[in-house]
Amino acid sequence: MALGIDSGTLASLQKLRLEYGDMVSITKPNGRLAYFINDAAEVRRILTRRHSKYHKGPGFERVKMLLGNGLIVSDGDVWRRSRRMIQPAFNRQNVHRLMKVMVECCDRRAVHWAELAANGENCNITSETSDFALELILISVFSSDYESRIMTEGENPFAFLSRDSTRDLSVVMKVRHLRELLQSIIDDRRAGKGSTEFDFLSMYLQATDKEGKPFSDAELLDELMTLIVAGFETSANTLNWVWYLIARHPEVEAKLLVDAAEHLPNVSALSAESLAAMQYTQQVLEEALRLYPPVWLFTRRSHELDELDDFDVAPDTDIYLSPFILHRTEHYWSDPERFDPDRFAPTDKPKKDRPFFPFSLGPRRCLGEYFSFLEMKVHLGLLLPRFRMQLVDEAEPELELSINLRATKDIFMKPTER
Ligand code: HEM
Repeated sequence: MALGIDSGTLASLQKLRLEYGDMVSITKPNGRLAYFINDAAEVRRILTRRHSKYHKGPGFERVKMLLGNGLIVSDGDVWRRSRRMIQPAFNRQNVHRLMKVMVECCDRRAVHWAELAANGENCNITSETSDFALELILISVFSSDYESRIMTEGENPFAFLSRDSTRDLSVVMKVRHLRELLQSIIDDRRAGKGSTEFDFLSMYLQATDKEGKPFSDAELLDELMTLIVAGFETSANTLNWVWYLIARHPEVEAKLLVDAAEHLPNVSALSAESLAAMQYTQQVLEEALRLYPPVWLFTRRSHELDELDDFDVAPDTDIYLSPFILHRTEHYWSDPERFDPDRFAPTDKPKKDRPFFPFSLGPRRCLGEYFSFLEMKVHLGLLLPRFRMQLVDEAEPELELSINLRATKDIFMKPTER
């Protein structure tokens, strides 16, 4: 069994689980041993307490072309240093300062959707959520340099990133161009030109390691590319599925509208507190992430022996862990294919045994989790009360499971103003 990461991988893994259970060992064609692990406790252990015994695994070579040795791809000391330098940029206070950008990006969508509604045209919600999330991350990184340096290029030069064909030659050229563009923005900032507003780039430029050393230009480029790529497709895909799920579940839509009316009656009521109070919206987002975790498969490669409870993992073994499969395993989740945001309602019962890790777990857990929940809540809280979206095609979208999980075809909706 080849076990790359492509459209056949999910079917192969599901077959293995059905035939052999929660711990499957496979010898790959290159002779390397691999484990596919679908036991919640072992998965948690590998990602948390035992994480230092593993590096990133198969599939990351492809990502490296785009992200160099940025945070998602790097391992060991390089990763540790970068993570320490970058983590403070993601503290809640900093993320709150970016809420006004989230609102601005919703306003831009609202203008476009109102036009579509007035003209009776359909809305490609897949490209709309993608544009929303891309614009948001770019303005969060570059503030006004986004308009003055990036959008002056005509078509957004980052837009191609949502199309996954990282090995194609034209992509190599486009990536090179992006890196040149980023380098010239960095040069300007270092020379005291360009935006002086608060943004991720200013925080990354100020970050220093334990020796007081800042990022070099090459490191900064890798980290900026990582931030942009990590920060937009995941949220965009989640919002795409959320709009689809809402359109299929009017009872959920009604409750979301109540949540928004109560906590976000108008944009001036928006604050970190009002967003935190949107409990039902949070549940809908979590349930969407359970069914459609954008990073549907994690891979790791052991670099030293790991003695787990039930078996040993020899050095140089590949490990496959799938939130997509665990999130839909009946043993942990009753009626797992059903969309039911009430699963995430606050309860006194411990939830620890239910595997839910769309943002991973442990020290390598996503840095943008809080940012993405705020972004998605602002998006839904401001746009859903204004627009009703009806599916143009009721058929269930097919899944494309490559590095990220997405819908094979764009989803179209008919917008009407409420
Ligand atoms: C729904 C939205 C998101 C999901 C589901 C998600 C999921 C993940 C996952 C699963 C990982 C770990 C991957 C692995 O270990 O193999 C990760 C890492 C990361 N994410 Fe996110 N992410 C989301 C949004 C964001 C956003 C908005 C940002 C930035 C603004 C971001 C920045 C990062 C970074 C920097 C890492 C690397 C962390 C490290 O290795 O230390 N993510 N994300």
